[in-house]
Amino acid sequence: MSNSKLNASIEAIKYIKPKIDFNSVIGVGTGSTVNYFIEELAKIKHLFKGAVSSSEASTKLLENYGIEVFELNDVDEIIVYVDGADEVDPSHNLIKGGGGAHTREKIVASASNEFVCIVDESKLVKVLGNFPLPIEVMIRSRSYVAREIVKLGGVPELRQNFFTDQDNQILDVTNLKMDDPLTLEKNINLIAGVLDNGIFAKCKPQKVIVGRN
Ligand code: 5RP
Repeated sequence: MSNSKLNASIEAIKYIKPKIDFNSVIGVGTGSTVNYFIEELAKIKHLFKGAVSSSEASTKLLENYGIEVFELNDVDEIIVYVDGADEVDPSHNLIKGGGGAHTREKIVASASNEFVCIVDESKLVKVLGNFPLPIEVMIRSRSYVAREIVKLGGVPELRQNFFTDQDNQILDVTNLKMDDPLTLEKNINLIAGVLDNGIFAKCKPQKVIVGRN
């Protein structure tokens, strides 16, 4: 039981409650912090229509709590997207993807009117990059992408025994210089075979809620 993650989730519910109505669809991220959020969201499930989920794990949890889950293609508007992060810098740039769900997370976050990030204090950093950067790659492109990442100065490591919801693999990359996250995010995504990387600089949260103990 993490009080800080729970407190961040409770604060997020307080923040989104005035913004939602019976027609509202809420975007839901992935991870242990979001699991607390889903539990809190279930308590007000009578106040909104349903959710768009960013992973199979969150879908399962949402449905277990009786929250209807919609496909992104089937909704016109997502009022707000709530998700955790692995690192948050002072400009709200993020590293995400510790759970390997960042590709779908970035799509749902981008499709939402507002992105609210919920973290505990341990996720706050001055500069991104201590947490290895997850990059989702197609299986066949893995070695090529790894060589291209080395050219950028990174040290890639294949996440063992792990496949994403889209049946791809993850390279976790250390040693990258992250003083310009937006440019790095774009440059990595230009490598053929990369689905997406875990830098959220183009699509970053408008609000970060830090849960404390
Ligand atoms: C999953 C993510 C998560 O949001 C991130 O890893 C944080 O997870 P947690 O709340 O468990 O610390 O990006 O892909």
